Amino acid sequence: MLYLWLKAFHVIAVVAWMAGMLYLPRLFVYHADTPRGSIQSETFKIMERRLLKAIINPAMIVTWVLGLYLLWDGGWYVSGWMHAKIALVLIMSGLHGVYVRRLKDFAADKNTKPAKYYRILNEVPTVLMIGIVILVIVKPF
Ligand code: HEM
Repeated sequence: MLYLWLKAFHVIAVVAWMAGMLYLPRLFVYHADTPRGSIQSETFKIMERRLLKAIINPAMIVTWVLGLYLLWDGGWYVSGWMHAKIALVLIMSGLHGVYVRRLKDFAADKNTKPAKYYRILNEVPTVLMIGIVILVIVKPF
């Protein structure tokens, strides 16, 4: 029973983490086309910082902590699909690190990347998420 409750909270945290991982690069797309020092640019900085600190960071931590508990309690560490899922989740966590660096560039008015870069970056969490969900639901190997 505890396992199912924690799995429910794992999925809730996943939804919050993914919402942020998909929305933050969207903000970067619009921010990249905004003049430095403008009111819009300063507003984007606040939105980006709050999204990262209030949603993305805590949701990622909860996802990891509960996911590792489920992994241990369910004995899933022997399963092939779980190894593949961990690999994709590690890439997702690395992407999170990339976002943090880009956010710091924007905060210091030092962004050098065009909006197109952020449009492409926006696709990466989508592809990873599709792979992770298929692995955990279908458990194909
Ligand atoms: C951060 C590292 C993560 C670990 C260690 C982890 C591990 C696990 C484990 C062991 C389960 C239980 C599987 C079962 O009972 O069948 C689970 C469930 C689930 N995980 Fe994760 N997970 C992680 C991140 C993620 C991410 C990033 C996503 C989605 C993008 C995700 C989506 C899901 C879903 C949808 C379920 C429910 C599957 C079901 O009930 O059939 N997880 N996770």
